[in-house]
Amino acid sequence: MSEKEAAKTGEPLKAAAAPPQRKSVAEDAAIAAGKDTYRRLLSYVKPHKRQFAIAVLGMVGYALTDTAFAALMKPMLDGSFVEQDRNSILLVPLLIIGIFVLRGVAGFASTYYISWIGWRVIKQLRAEIFGKYLTLPTSFYDQASSGELISRITFNSQMVANAASTSLTVAVRDTLTAIGLFALMFYHSWQLSLTFLVIGPIIGIIVARVSKKFRTISRSIQGSMGDVSHVIQEAVEGSRVIKIFGGQEEELSEFELANERNRAFNMKETMVKALNQPIIQFLVAVALAVIVYFASSGDFVDRISVGSFMSFITAMLLLFAPLKRITNLNNEIQRGIAAGESLFAILDLESERDTGTRELPKEIGSIEYRDVNLKYQLDKPAVLKDIQLSIASGETVAFVGESGSGKTSLVNLLPRLYELSSGSVSVNGTDIDQYTLQSLRSRIATVSQDVMLFNDTIASNIAYGSRNSIDEETLHAACKAAHAHDFITKLPDGYETLVGENGIMLSGGQRQRVAIARALLKNAPILILDEATSALDTESERKVQQGLDALMRGRTTMVIAHRLSTIEKADRIVVMDRGEIVEIGTHKELLAKQSHYFKLHQLQFQ
Ligand SMILES: Nc1ncnc2c1ncn2[C@@H]1O[C@H](COP(=O)(O)OP(=O)(O)O)[C@@H](O)[C@H]1O
Ligand SMILES: [Mg+2]
Repeated sequence: MSEKEAAKTGEPLKAAAAPPQRKSVAEDAAIAAGKDTYRRLLSYVKPHKRQFAIAVLGMVGYALTDTAFAALMKPMLDGSFVEQDRNSILLVPLLIIGIFVLRGVAGFASTYYISWIGWRVIKQLRAEIFGKYLTLPTSFYDQASSGELISRITFNSQMVANAASTSLTVAVRDTLTAIGLFALMFYHSWQLSLTFLVIGPIIGIIVARVSKKFRTISRSIQGSMGDVSHVIQEAVEGSRVIKIFGGQEEELSEFELANERNRAFNMKETMVKALNQPIIQFLVAVALAVIVYFASSGDFVDRISVGSFMSFITAMLLLFAPLKRITNLNNEIQRGIAAGESLFAILDLESERDTGTRELPKEIGSIEYRDVNLKYQLDKPAVLKDIQLSIASGETVAFVGESGSGKTSLVNLLPRLYELSSGSVSVNGTDIDQYTLQSLRSRIATVSQDVMLFNDTIASNIAYGSRNSIDEETLHAACKAAHAHDFITKLPDGYETLVGENGIMLSGGQRQRVAIARALLKNAPILILDEATSALDTESERKVQQGLDALMRGRTTMVIAHRLSTIEKADRIVVMDRGEIVEIGTHKELLAKQSHYFKLHQLQFQ
């Protein structure tokens, strides 16, 4: 695991602590890692051995036809045209057709099956990564960029498969083609072949230079395309902010910059591309000219027939394309390995720990926090310090404290969204680690300040996770209790109304009530309310509060509230300050103490 990834997962930076390795050792390690990645990628192809064999067979067939076609030049010119041999006159046309039939079939088989395997591998990789995303710890998502995570699934997986199939095709088909053509050239004239061996590499070096330039530009284009999408994404997602703060000018000029950069890079690419072809052709022509000169002067003319010479030239011309691809093979493989590594880096991340085997029953007793400490990052100060708290069954405990004092962090430990640094949290006298994540989380319902809704119907959002087992009556009952039924039925499509991305079609209060209905429907014995009403105006807050009151009835509730009435009604109030619990008591007790709560109360509620 690299340092960066370790930082992402919040794991100790072991690599950083190790003494710096000597360079050669590090290089060896990199090569070994590359080989490992390579082997691991191959393991995805293994189940498709049969298709793989057909594809390779197709490539071999295809490679043969190139050589066969070049070889055919000799009987065609010498036999059919010069000697007017009857056999040749009949046979050569048939062979031409035969060769191209074979070429067609072989080409189809290799293209089809390579693509077949490629898409299976892409699908498999995507499924594995998506599955992984569902199990990664919350801390991973705190650090990761969503765009990056999406493109790993969509783009990098495809890049792996493309690079792999390209390099395989080159390694098998082009190598065989080159060997066949070269053998043919030597067969016709070793002297001319040697001449070619001198000119060939010079051309090769120039071609390699040009393609390198080309790749650099390609990469810049990808980067500049990313910039363009980035500006668009921001403009689309932030359309409201842009309108209100009059950011149009700023966005336009930023877009113009990215847009222009992209245009310039593309023109540069066009330029290299357009120059590439004539330069290579010119070099090939030079090679051809040299060979023609040698062949037609001196001793060669007597010894080589027209047919042999044409066959030689054809083979040579056919040789350039595969040779060019072969020189590029290593880059292609490296690109595939790099993309593969980026995928395996995700697959190798540690999933959420889920080693518990117990099932948490529906009857919840007490919840205990013992000596709990929490650090999100090792190098940052603790966010929760030495928390001692026990909550009785059915109790409502309110948490108050300045923003950043650790209230959300404290309640998030219960559904194990984060791992404690030390101490323990237990339910029914058993450490929550001992329960399966699934059973623990199924007993907890949460409503928080920002409600996450999927771009789906209201009904699907409310019944999220249990759509198939919920009947309409239960759904409506939950919505009535949450004071959501009335507004939902007034919507154009009622319960089937689409809420838009992140519920944008609903008002803040409506979203909250949908979230409350969702929590009610879950009917879990533990309830966590994290500033569930703080974003609301008084009118909708009143309605939401009624919903919440219904929700809290008969449950063990941890409520982070800014609203006095909620706090006053709570059985106990926990006052937090900079990660510590500084006071616990009822509203009256704490007011009488004239300490932390008293001050907070005066600041916030007077
Ligand atoms: N996911 C996180 N990663 C890193 N630090 C966090 C994360 N969530 C909260 N913090 C930090 O922990 C502290 C407590 O935050 P939080 O529990 O959200 O406080 P509260 O809910 O009382 O406002 C803050 O300093 C905050 O910056
Ligand atoms: Mg909070």
